[in-house]
Amino acid sequence: MNRIKQTVFLCLISCIAASITNAQPKTIPQKVDALLKRMTLAEKIGQLNQLNGDWEATGPITKDLGNKLDAIKHGEIGSVLNIVGVKHTRAFQEAAMQSRLKIPLLFGQDVIHGYSITFPIPLGEAASWDMPAIERSARIAATEAAAGGIQWTFAPMVDIARDPRWGRVMEGAGEDPYLGSLIATARVHGFQGKGLGNLDAIMACAKHFAAYGAAIGGRDYNSVDMSLRTLWEVYLPPFKAAADAGASTFMNSFNDLNGTPASANRYLMRDILKGKWGFKGFVVSDWGSIGEMINHGYVKDGYEAAEASINAGSDMDMESRSYINHLAKLVADKKVTIATIDEAVRRILTKKFELGLFDDPYRFSDADREKRVMNTPEHLEAARDIARKSIVLLKNEHNVLPLSKDLNSIALIGPLVKAKKEMKGFWSLDVGDESQIVSLYEGMQQAAGKTNLLYARGCDITDTSRAGFDEAYKTAMQADVVIMAMGERPDMTGEAKSRSNIHLPGVQEDLIKAISATGKPLVVLLMSGRPMVFNWTADHVPAILYTWWLGNQAGNAMTDILYGNYNPGAKLPITFPRTEGQIPIYYNHLNTGRPAHADNDVNYTSAYIDLPNSPKYAFGHGLSYTTFSYSNLKFSKKSMLKTGSITVSFDLQNTGKYAGEEVAQFYLRQMVSQPVRPIKELKGFQKVMLQPGETKTITFTIDKEKLAFYNDQLERITQPGEFQLMVGSASDDIRLQGDFQLL
Ligand code: GLC
Repeated sequence: MNRIKQTVFLCLISCIAASITNAQPKTIPQKVDALLKRMTLAEKIGQLNQLNGDWEATGPITKDLGNKLDAIKHGEIGSVLNIVGVKHTRAFQEAAMQSRLKIPLLFGQDVIHGYSITFPIPLGEAASWDMPAIERSARIAATEAAAGGIQWTFAPMVDIARDPRWGRVMEGAGEDPYLGSLIATARVHGFQGKGLGNLDAIMACAKHFAAYGAAIGGRDYNSVDMSLRTLWEVYLPPFKAAADAGASTFMNSFNDLNGTPASANRYLMRDILKGKWGFKGFVVSDWGSIGEMINHGYVKDGYEAAEASINAGSDMDMESRSYINHLAKLVADKKVTIATIDEAVRRILTKKFELGLFDDPYRFSDADREKRVMNTPEHLEAARDIARKSIVLLKNEHNVLPLSKDLNSIALIGPLVKAKKEMKGFWSLDVGDESQIVSLYEGMQQAAGKTNLLYARGCDITDTSRAGFDEAYKTAMQADVVIMAMGERPDMTGEAKSRSNIHLPGVQEDLIKAISATGKPLVVLLMSGRPMVFNWTADHVPAILYTWWLGNQAGNAMTDILYGNYNPGAKLPITFPRTEGQIPIYYNHLNTGRPAHADNDVNYTSAYIDLPNSPKYAFGHGLSYTTFSYSNLKFSKKSMLKTGSITVSFDLQNTGKYAGEEVAQFYLRQMVSQPVRPIKELKGFQKVMLQPGETKTITFTIDKEKLAFYNDQLERITQPGEFQLMVGSASDDIRLQGDFQLL
């Protein structure tokens, strides 16, 4: 009898165990659904509410919600931004653990180009055309940020920008959809590493969705008005690349697109992002942008703003408080369904589970790891590496560069010679120790050996005083070579930093003229977050380096280039105009019915009568201390079906005396199409290191994807016809070309 009882008892236990285990949700979707079922509407709405922490705001401060920690304890806040460091984030997380359901907070931060170590601004990194280096930069930033309690960066900014008056051009990857898409992918992979759940992985956020960089007049936050075909051809590709790379989140933009603010743009968020692209992450609004739809005139109040945004696919409300203030009533009024709320909450909770925050809300709050991870020599070396890869050699006549170590003296002149914190540029964090930033002056002190360094500030950045000119002139006269460090202030590019005049500010170009009059060999380093206008300098100074803002290792990277320890190989990711009057100016433009065939061709052509048509420096421009020859272009065949491909090859040779890297660029043009196509489009490139005299055969494969474009019905199509392939060192320096047919 006992055996029977024992068997029955064991069966009973296993049935109960089975029923319990069956009830225990195993997968993340099951866990999310189980949690959703337990949440009140107020708790659900709390997850859609993101507020600024008590640290620096990155937008216009709205009236405070009282004590945020109390709101967190009551489940009214699901995410906090602008709180950094284990100590602070842990305090906020502890408050969340006192809420009824203990749903952990997400901590978001603009880790745009570094956390404790600052890397070059993104536009500078883009000039490296070096995807592994760009990915590594983001990887290090993520590693440091995650150790500092952050799980989410509001990056990469992937807005295509063709207007350097727009201050946020510094934050992206320039004007080209192909290059921008590769860089978006590299940055998403860098930030997310081996995937959420890893302790050094943080959520990426592709922003600003969409077309924010096309603000009319280059004026930040201004309207955007464009054909949907241009949207798909130019502005969406980097976002699609970010989504394909697995970006966990998107951020929508401040601008209206053709009259509909992005925060309530159903076409962008539901039709394209969550629909066509199948995006499973969540969308956060930009700072206050939901509430700003009242200013847009799209809605009359916060109630309507919340309704329009949540129904259009904005899942989380950053800082406008529209959701926390109005969603409950909108549900009661049946203007917003519970299903819509649940869909948004589900997307957010899914990420919190994927990050492992429900397993351990403090897994990003390890103070020992925070100390151990920051500012390691290996990471600083990586910062120096990408910084020197970002420096563009615009000009180097008479081989003024690289400098000899045998010079008796060098004069360092200009307002940015000793600048340190300025090297961080905009969107840098106050986490690292600014005293560790290497200025040009400090870099020279380390690199110049026995050469005597002289210094004069000469002038300020925007001030018009010339009082320092005389001293600077005398200092220059004492030296064998003069190096000038000139540019903007770092707060002259970035958010809400549009300039109508992008000339080198103040009296800096007058100082350059004065120093040039000494007749000394002159090198000018230009530091800025945008293309500036500096025509006199460009025409008269023999050696010019564009250094952007290079971050912690600025001075070392600059001297690596100045002394030739590293041969510059960067290429411009954006066109440099001759003056503001040319803007918008970009390389992949259409031919028009009256193209100008030369700079002075103004005879009934699309040209200015008072200015050459070409830019000052073209997209893809950048020199080296060596030279490269392009030869022996071959096509595997001269025609292809759209199901086929053509392989192109050519020989690239280092014909100089320095080892160096060349970014060989491949451009395509469809000669006849409807609608018409640009005169050239970047469709490939290879960054190749060659020793002096070395030759490598470079190949490029043409397939349907490289020939496809959007028609007026927004279908991605190809059209048979003749294509031109152009291979070059810049968009205006084509070395080889040939044609082929798509049958
Ligand atoms: C800012 C920016 C956005 C940033 C956010 C949070 O206004 O537009 O790029 O991520 O607010 O700082």
